[in-house]
Amino acid sequence: MTRDFAKVGVVGLGTMGAGIAEVMARSGVNVVGIESTAEALERGRGHVEDSTARAVTRGKLSAGARQAILDAVTFSTSLTDVKDADLVIEAIPERLAPKQQLFADLDAACAPETILATNTSSLSVTEIAVATTRPAQVIGLHFFNPAPVMKLVEVVTTVVTDPQVVRDVEALAQRLGKVDVTVGDRAGFIANALLFGYLNHAVSMFESGYAGREDIDAAMTLGCGLPMGPLALLDLIGIDTAQEILDTMYRQSGDRLHAPAPYLRQLVTAGRLGRKRGRGFYSYQQPDSPVVVPDADTPSAPGPAAGAREVSRVGLVGSGVLATQLAEVFTEAGYQVTRVGEPALSEPALSELAGIQLVGTELAGCELVVEAAGADAPVTAALFGALDLACPGAVLATSSLLPIIDLAAATSRPGDVVGMHVTAPTVTTLIEVVRTVATSDEAVATVSAVCRRLGRQPVGCGDRAGFIVNALLFPYLNDAVKMLEAHYASADDIDAAMKLGCGFPVGPIEALDAIGLDVALAVQRTLYQEFREPGFAPAPLLTHLVTAGYLGRTSGRGFREHPAP
Ligand code: 3HC
Repeated sequence: MTRDFAKVGVVGLGTMGAGIAEVMARSGVNVVGIESTAEALERGRGHVEDSTARAVTRGKLSAGARQAILDAVTFSTSLTDVKDADLVIEAIPERLAPKQQLFADLDAACAPETILATNTSSLSVTEIAVATTRPAQVIGLHFFNPAPVMKLVEVVTTVVTDPQVVRDVEALAQRLGKVDVTVGDRAGFIANALLFGYLNHAVSMFESGYAGREDIDAAMTLGCGLPMGPLALLDLIGIDTAQEILDTMYRQSGDRLHAPAPYLRQLVTAGRLGRKRGRGFYSYQQPDSPVVVPDADTPSAPGPAAGAREVSRVGLVGSGVLATQLAEVFTEAGYQVTRVGEPALSEPALSELAGIQLVGTELAGCELVVEAAGADAPVTAALFGALDLACPGAVLATSSLLPIIDLAAATSRPGDVVGMHVTAPTVTTLIEVVRTVATSDEAVATVSAVCRRLGRQPVGCGDRAGFIVNALLFPYLNDAVKMLEAHYASADDIDAAMKLGCGFPVGPIEALDAIGLDVALAVQRTLYQEFREPGFAPAPLLTHLVTAGYLGRTSGRGFREHPAP
């Protein structure tokens, strides 16, 4: 028998608290919303009213049902109004001292049987619990933004939480229509621990000028199917909240990847706290609006790319699946395509290569040649030496993940060599257009214009390991393996947390099995070697599984078993 939660208090009615109050009221729970000032209380009431009004406008809620939700929530500035609540959930800003003070106050104000929960994203639930005389009745109940939409609730237990309290709260989460995962008290729990390293890395990429705001976000939405790009998501979460979460995680893990990127502090100091203030990485129509409006940092419309060369004939080098798909895509877009298979090359043969013989003369006259041979570094460099001679005047692009500058250096015209990284051209619309220190603006403009004519989205970035997508994706996947290895959470809970808490289309463990553990290990090693970042070191478990031949779907077994279809 689990407890019936008839009355729940929510203290702190910012974005999360108001969302939690709405979720409770939608499930027929009576809610008392508490704020410290009348002004903050009105803002909190406004959040609930606006959110439910939007749902009515979208035809998702009847006016009557909205009224029932509003009737179920009462508002107060006095903690004594939650004294007889079954549960009080705290959702005030992410700082330990005020939370501890609030819990001491709630402990004094509430009936002995009231359960006290914190919605903290990263602070220690244990440290909050010991501020009360009832630590066994204190628990973490971590919702995700927007609370009415995201299905996940992390239930966070401490070493002293009463198991009955855990069962009661898990049952409540289910009654709310949420999916609960129960974990121990560790900074960031599952989802934030995996999410925030990735978000912080994206900020560093932007801050260093490696790639633009829109490019980083488009890379992750189009390249990985995420519902939002990392910078837009930071705006949704709140820059101040994100900075505090990272700070806490860094203090606990000591992992430099969690040290908040300095740019976050600058945004906080400037008051650009994200959507809630109408300005963060992006500018919004008004505070709380999801509608992005142009600002001084908005790139001008692409138009007919300045300096782009005219392209009508495209050469493709490669005989594999990628080259076949690219041939289809180019042909569909009206390009005249000449395809040559890559020559079968071996190391000893390389020294004897006379470039011109390597590809013959079929590609002469092409304005753009795309290499999609998937060969190793020496062979691809030799191929570029050959293409240089065989295709005078053409822009030479590569779909490979190799350092583009190595390929450019093998030619007599490095300005014409550009990366055109695409993984599954018939599935994703993303193409990373990679420029080296030597690439000309003209070559970049030419390839970008071609991408647009293909109906694909070019995103620009510099020539470093992983470009945008892999550099952001694989360390996150690697972190998930480390979490599994540490026995903090199961593969199922890790996958569920990222899908239900953050809307990722697949969980990281599932993704690794699909991508191939060997591929993931190779990418992660390259990133580690290039950046020398200790946090990028491949998880030992990943290395062990690859050594054991557990490569994922292709080998029938990775993190999970995959019976042959
Ligand atoms: N309140 C209530 N409902 C909302 C909402 C809000 N603030 N924002 C969106 N919705 C609803 C819409 O009404 C719509 O409902 P419907 O499908 O029934 O019509 C649905 O969500 C989809 O909304 P939209 O069509 O307007 O927009 P999108 O399809 O772009 O979805 C999104 C918006 C749900 C926010 C989606 O982009 C998403 O899933 N983003 C990822 C969010 C995420 O990662 N959250 C976790 C952040 S980490 C966190 O919160 C932990 C904390 O500790 C920091």
